[in-house]
Amino acid sequence: MFSNLGHRIFSWLEKRELSYWRSRMRVGKGVDMKPGFRVTKPEQVTIGDYVSIGPDVILQAHAPITIGDYTLISAGVLIVTANHGPDRRELEMRRDVQSPVRIGKSCWIGAGVVVLPGVTIGDGTVVGAGSVVSRDLPPETICLGVPARPIKPRPKPRDV
Ligand SMILES: CC(C)(COP(=O)(O)OP(=O)(O)OC[C@H]1O[C@@H](n2cnc3c(N)ncnc32)[C@H](O)[C@@H]1OP(=O)(O)O)[C@@H](O)C(=O)NCCC(=O)NCCS
Repeated sequence: MFSNLGHRIFSWLEKRELSYWRSRMRVGKGVDMKPGFRVTKPEQVTIGDYVSIGPDVILQAHAPITIGDYTLISAGVLIVTANHGPDRRELEMRRDVQSPVRIGKSCWIGAGVVVLPGVTIGDGTVVGAGSVVSRDLPPETICLGVPARPIKPRPKPRDV
């Protein structure tokens, strides 16, 4: 009984937290977000319609982050927009360089992908699990690896 009560309290708190983040971002209709979501500067985030965000996704929006309609962000994705000049010593948590990240429409960003500052991912592109996206990726391609590179075109949807 107590563990059931604990679970209900925990999931109520998770829902409260998600609605707190939603209220501070620009979020389209039909957006599904799972628990564990974290965002820095939510006012800089724009999420399109029917986007799905898996568990434990982190958006560090020191610069704007834009996610297009129908895109799926899988579990554990990390999107960062801030950098330090690598020449600097005595680094603190101060952000030296901030660059926006844009993810197109109908993309699928695989589990555990890291997206680095300033990157644009084209519409319809798939990024394989565990990849690090350090440069722009073209539309409608399957990309993977560290750094992520296009390996083949994304197949067209099958007729049903
Ligand atoms: C990127 C992906 C979609 C490619 O799928 P696919 O087109 O069917 O490609 P294949 O499985 O035929 O793999 C092609 C090659 O890339 C390699 N590969 C596949 N995914 C890879 C990845 N994420 N990282 C590195 N290499 C990968 C395969 O080993 C294979 O190499 P090989 O030709 O030397 O054997 C898929 O592998 C992937 O990463 N999916 C994401 C899964 C995920 O995050 N799920 C969360 C659920 S929301």
